[in-house]
Amino acid sequence: MSRTLNCIVAVCPNMGIGNNGNLPWHPKRLSNEFKHFQKMTMTPTVEGKQNVVIMGRKTWFSIPERNRPLKNRINIVLSRALNLIGLQWIWEAMEAPCLRRLFVTRVQQQFDCDTFIPEISADKYRLLPGFPGVAEGMQEESGLQYEFEVYESIEN
Ligand SMILES: NC(=O)c1ccc[n+]([C@@H]2O[C@H](COP(=O)([O-])OP(=O)(O)OC[C@H]3O[C@@H](n4cnc5c(N)ncnc54)[C@H](OP(=O)(O)O)[C@@H]3O)[C@@H](O)[C@H]2O)c1
Repeated sequence: MSRTLNCIVAVCPNMGIGNNGNLPWHPKRLSNEFKHFQKMTMTPTVEGKQNVVIMGRKTWFSIPERNRPLKNRINIVLSRALNLIGLQWIWEAMEAPCLRRLFVTRVQQQFDCDTFIPEISADKYRLLPGFPGVAEGMQEESGLQYEFEVYESIEN
């Protein structure tokens, strides 16, 4: 069975994704954008299975306690303090050849950021014209504009 590795992120124009342990636009809240995250991470490609969500320790602790673990998903939290040999399979799974999908929310406004992701390489990923269940066009809430994009790896 072919596997897909999905990544999901909301990003400022300069590829910043975080600031002081929060999202860059904190304390503004993008409720519909969060619903998009919930829907995409909760919807498994195989019926009856759950998606795994992998996050760093800081992201885990940035989630309000009442909302964690993220429901209907298998939550895996990375920490170098936990030297779990059993988690070797995560790295193997992430490095193995497979289809990779990037669900990217492009926030149009720039905010101060201290955490960044690399630019999405046009050599490695192609922007899809649309994706089932993903709203098209410019979205707006809390005075912020943003757009959903979905990319797929060119080689797998
Ligand atoms: N915009 C978005 O979509 C988005 C998504 C996620 C996060 N963020 C933001 O990004 C910022 C946090 O980013 P961050 O990258 O510093 O935090 P993070 O990835 O959530 O957490 C970093 C921690 O994860 C653990 N970790 C990371 N890589 C690891 C590895 N290879 N092996 C074992 N443990 C590992 C380490 O924990 P230990 O220190 O315990 O070893 C590290 O200190 C926050 O501002 C957050 O709000 C934004």
